Amino acid sequence: MNTLKFHDGVLTIIDQTKLPLKLEYIDCYDYKRVIQAITRLEIRGAPAIGAATGYALLLAAREYKELPLDDFLVKLDMAKKEIAAARPTAVNLFWALDMVWKKSVLAGKTVDDILTALELAANRIFALDIAANKAMGRYGASVLPERCSVLTHCNAGALATCGWGTALGVIREAFLQGKIDIVYADETRPLLQGARLTAWELARDKIPVRVITDSMAGWVMKKGLVQAVITGADRIALNGDTANKIGTYTLAVMAKRHSIPFYIAAPRSTIDFTINTGDDIPIEERGEDEVICFAGVRSAPNGVEVFNPAFDVTDNELITGIITEYGVLYPPFDKAIYKIQNKKTEEE
Ligand code: MRU
Repeated sequence: MNTLKFHDGVLTIIDQTKLPLKLEYIDCYDYKRVIQAITRLEIRGAPAIGAATGYALLLAAREYKELPLDDFLVKLDMAKKEIAAARPTAVNLFWALDMVWKKSVLAGKTVDDILTALELAANRIFALDIAANKAMGRYGASVLPERCSVLTHCNAGALATCGWGTALGVIREAFLQGKIDIVYADETRPLLQGARLTAWELARDKIPVRVITDSMAGWVMKKGLVQAVITGADRIALNGDTANKIGTYTLAVMAKRHSIPFYIAAPRSTIDFTINTGDDIPIEERGEDEVICFAGVRSAPNGVEVFNPAFDVTDNELITGIITEYGVLYPPFDKAIYKIQNKKTEEE
């Protein structure tokens, strides 16, 4: 499955708003269409957003490549700022933008140099994300018991990454090793990424999946139906506090209550090395229709107030381990994160 693919100057993405009813693709010919795709959640999930961002900057550079160097740089800088404003919480977006900028604009002396370096850097982010997912899969599978059922939230699969997935990458690898009986997928209100996307991905791979509403998760845990919870992440602070899809915090509290291990699976690019705690993570608030309309039909009275935070922050003490491509990090997370901060990655 190609969540996103850059070819012949076009970024093609799966339109995730149409799944599971239709598998349709969108061709993005310019960077503004990529920004639109990110804000509309046609492409979503922190690592997929990061990779799309690299290609968005490349599309902008291709658009302005006939300009003299100084004008080209002014235009590219403006495009970079527009892209950065697409969504606020997933740090992979800013990480990817900075990475491709550093590798191209800060390193090249001509427009041609910059274009070539930008394409290489964007492709590198794509390739390394898949490699990171595979590594996370192996590390994550090793911490699961021999036979278990797991609960996941939102979609942290191939659709949310450049392929394979973070939380679903762990689940895929564990399934291949014969460890997984069934996956409980929270439907994930309000936009149903769990029911629409996670269930679709797992069913395609013939991995047994059972969809539940978010409010059923506590009961599923109390009944002893799951032995681990694994989710992805949008931004992790230096102390391990983790932002992920709204509802993740509630799951972590419930998991603690039932002594069920709660794991986050995320690549190093999801760690924000500039913030100390989750208090500093910007939480996106989205439009009220997502909460009070269902399939286009209003489900609450006119005039009621709506609160629609798209993410929440899970406190580090609720997290059993953070599964990364460098291994599984355990508390105290500040020390464990410090160790991988100092690893120079291939992207850098
Ligand atoms: O609003 P979304 O669908 O982009 O939210 C996505 C999530 O919260 C995912 O769990 C997260 O990005 C991890 S994706 C590997």
